Amino acid sequence: MKITAAVTGVGAYVPDYVLTNAELEKLVDTTDEWILSRTGIRERRILKGENQGTSVMGIKAVQNLLAKTGTNPDEVELLICATTTPDMLFPATANIISNGVGITKAFSYDMNAACSTFLFALATGAQFIQAGTYKKVIVVGADKMSAIVDYTDRANCILFGDGAAAVLLEPNTDGYGILDQVLRTDGSGEAYLHQKAGGSRRPPTHETVNAKEHYIYQEGATVFKFAVKSMADVAAQVMERNHLTNDSVAWLVPHQANKRIIDATANRMGVGPEKVMLNIDRYGNTTNGTIPLCLADYESQLRRGDNLVLAAFGGGFTWGSIYLKWAYDGDKVAASK
Ligand code: UT7
Repeated sequence: MKITAAVTGVGAYVPDYVLTNAELEKLVDTTDEWILSRTGIRERRILKGENQGTSVMGIKAVQNLLAKTGTNPDEVELLICATTTPDMLFPATANIISNGVGITKAFSYDMNAACSTFLFALATGAQFIQAGTYKKVIVVGADKMSAIVDYTDRANCILFGDGAAAVLLEPNTDGYGILDQVLRTDGSGEAYLHQKAGGSRRPPTHETVNAKEHYIYQEGATVFKFAVKSMADVAAQVMERNHLTNDSVAWLVPHQANKRIIDATANRMGVGPEKVMLNIDRYGNTTNGTIPLCLADYESQLRRGDNLVLAAFGGGFTWGSIYLKWAYDGDKVAASK
């Protein structure tokens, strides 16, 4: 019997502080109209406070997941954290999250492939289930983008927000779960989206910090062009090779970087706006939080057997698409919360 990795629950957390476009108008030379029309973003959440890292949000998202699915932390065998903004370079943020939620009988590690990490981590976690090695794997997508955003850089500070969400993967023998994936990288994309200093090539110094080299560097228009083409290409490829049509796809679950990139992907797939998960207006680009936060937001509308096409694009360049057959009726979960 073929074992697939089903998503059997979703948990989420976003911080309370709401950074609106109106507040950004006071920080940089921008307007609510420009931000909304060019990106689709109205507001984003920011994690405030001293010593508050990505793990703070990851812990809350996993606690929410464990509670909703009635999972005992001792049952979890592996936790992967998809993040580009770890609490520190080491130890892994995944370990801090595991410790924070009382997962003590598992191993955990971080993965980083910028905005595509959640998809890469989902595919990685699924392999352990499909191979029959483990029965309960948690994949967390969490980022505190506000830690690496320059709030004097109008091209970037409007885009990003903080947030986290997590899914539980369990074996399934009825054909539900992660059924296919197309995952890609092109390292030549480094030039257009990266952090100039802070890692081993250019360790942080007073000079690098003064030159703001620990912030996101992005050539937005170039990234935009690659994102539109790449995300649509892989989503279309996943549909084609699984004989999915615009009718049989229930939901497109896109990375939320820019509403215009999402619209272009949906158009290429022939999927109408009513089938596109969208929360960029409220959260902006939370990097690895975007896709699981969408699943959490739309959980009550999801039905067992729904065909979901997940798609992402990010720095690296990295991109990918996953075909996920949803395993449970979300309205029942919402009702029992
Ligand atoms: O998730 C990781 C992957 N990242 C992405 O997917 C992001 C991809 N890129 C984008 O979403 C878009 O390129 C941006 C939203 C970042 C920028 O939008 P754009 O339509 O590509 O604008 P642009 O960079 O070509 O800039 C157009 C103009 C420029 O002014 P000039 O040179 O034409 O006078 C910018 O200086 O818009 C200006 N501009 C702004 N104006 C008002 C840039 N940022 C702002 C701003 N407010 N916040």
